[in-house]
Amino acid sequence: MSVIKAAITGVAGYVPDDILSNADLEKMVDTNDEWIVSRTGIRERRILKDPKKAAAYMGAECVRDLLAKTNTDPDDVDLLICATVTPDMMFPNTASLILEQVGMRNSYGFDLNAACSGFLFGLTTAAQFIKSGKHKKVILVGSDKMSAITDFTDRNTCILFSDGAGAVMLEPSEEFGFEDSIMFTNADGKEYLNLKGGGSLNPATEETLEDGWHYLFQDGRPVFKAAVKGMATVSKKLMDKAGVPLDQIDWMVPHQANLRILTAVADMLKFDQEKVMVVIDKYGNTTDATIPLSLWDYEKKLKKGDKLLFTAFGGSYTWGAIYLTWAYDGIK
Ligand code: ACO
Repeated sequence: MSVIKAAITGVAGYVPDDILSNADLEKMVDTNDEWIVSRTGIRERRILKDPKKAAAYMGAECVRDLLAKTNTDPDDVDLLICATVTPDMMFPNTASLILEQVGMRNSYGFDLNAACSGFLFGLTTAAQFIKSGKHKKVILVGSDKMSAITDFTDRNTCILFSDGAGAVMLEPSEEFGFEDSIMFTNADGKEYLNLKGGGSLNPATEETLEDGWHYLFQDGRPVFKAAVKGMATVSKKLMDKAGVPLDQIDWMVPHQANLRILTAVADMLKFDQEKVMVVIDKYGNTTDATIPLSLWDYEKKLKKGDKLLFTAFGGSYTWGAIYLTWAYDGIK
């Protein structure tokens, strides 16, 4: 009996036009280009300046492009999942707002929050709907307006984050697609990486605003260590389970939080650095969008049958890896 897999049949990306460079940040906080590049690999990031536009707007830009690229009738899309930590509002969910902005009235959608691992948790979820035969076309969007939750007076975090979105179309295939995944969550990192305000535990008050609880907080050092260990360990575990040696992987597609994390993970796995997708230098950490933006950027280099290993680590903590075979040659 043939197995139905969820194949990625198209990719789209969107980044705002406005660039925030390291030179710009030097004028805002006590930092410098040399520190930022050597510690993170980031040279510039994108900022969605229009206060009336947010995660749904960027997601909708991607979805329109994805529908055109894949020649898809919007009415044929069964489901849209949006991975985000910066929803436009608590509700309605961002997926619904994207569907509204694109004019898709035949689908349903929901949001998924797993911080920087959100796109991989979303891909694992979306793949089940295809594999079960329940849905024929599922769109997964990762979209984050990180500038909305970044304190631009805090040099520890404002140099890292960026705005952007990316999306993939998933369809059934008997040949290529989602092969396997391993995912983990615990709350061990809740002290090191969090956004405390605005939820049901700490609803917004004058005090939460004064204390800056509406901004992301990160103590980077423990997160860095946990990220390297988590991504390397889960990647090895997954490929051992799949029975595919790491040297047969054509591309590693890691979440882009810090270039030193990517290098350290590849080193631990003895994986060829040339086969690691890197876009952090120009897009920074866009949280749920880093992985689809990497695919978008490298799309023309990808070939049908390529073996891809995705891995991510995020707050606080979520992590995992996915093994997937690529379904088409180059750019659509
Ligand atoms: N410019 C200059 N100096 C700085 C800056 C800056 N922008 N930021 C911090 N420093 C200083 C610190 O104050 C510290 O000084 P001190 O030694 O006098 O106290 C020194 O530089 C070293 O600080 P560290 O925090 O130890 O720097 P580190 O090398 O760890 O880099 C970073 C910090 C980039 C945040 C790194 O720890 C990191 O990438 N962590 C992991 C990020 C991650 O993976 N997050 C998960 C995904 S994000 C999500 O889920 C939303």
